[in-house]
Amino acid sequence: MINIAIDGPAGAGKSTIARKAASELGFIYIDTGALYRTVGVAAMRQNKLGSDSEIESVLTDELSVELRFSDGIQKMYLNGEDVSEAIRTPEASMAASKVSAVPAVRAYLFDLQKRIAKENNCLMDGRDIGTVVLPDADVKIFLTASPEARAKRRYKELVEKGSDVKYEDVLSDMIKRDYDDSHRAIAPLKQAEDAILVDTSDIGLEESIALIIRTIKENI
Ligand code: DC
Repeated sequence: MINIAIDGPAGAGKSTIARKAASELGFIYIDTGALYRTVGVAAMRQNKLGSDSEIESVLTDELSVELRFSDGIQKMYLNGEDVSEAIRTPEASMAASKVSAVPAVRAYLFDLQKRIAKENNCLMDGRDIGTVVLPDADVKIFLTASPEARAKRRYKELVEKGSDVKYEDVLSDMIKRDYDDSHRAIAPLKQAEDAILVDTSDIGLEESIALIIRTIKENI
């Protein structure tokens, strides 16, 4: 199977770009952030975000985190409920960041990600795909942009969804999340040595998509 790893910080346009590139290449697209978000929402709903051991206690046999495809679009199910929308709130983002620093959560989701990659030609996006989950990926890309460029995009996205947020809050959340994601002890966000760096701060979406597709085709 052909596996492509795309890693990078929040808001670099990874999911939009990766989804389009995957469909162009005929690969399935896996958004691994959605897995962490689903566990985050599970912990949030049980009021168990206080400590690592509390978060760990969410990972019982009763917890079911499922990824299903509907018309090629990834949907997330938590204990049978479609939480694809619920995982996109700012609170869910923070919860995801918190649970993703817990080793037991990463171990829990690792096997799921491995299995999908083994069975499908896929393009997987996340933080540690090229470094930890798929160290032997056929192509690795590290997709990034400045915090301001990323916050601006995320803000626009949230406003379009009717959310009443302030740009300053989105930016400070983004900076905090970047810091937490790249300084955590386990699987921190970092560019794999053999990953190709792509910076989208100064280019638009269409151009970014074309650049990624070209980069993948040239390196596959
Ligand atoms: O990409 P995202 O914003 O949906 O990711 C949500 C959180 O999950 C983010 O704080 C980082 C974490 N994450 C991770 O640790 N490893 C991944 N492979 C994907 C996401």
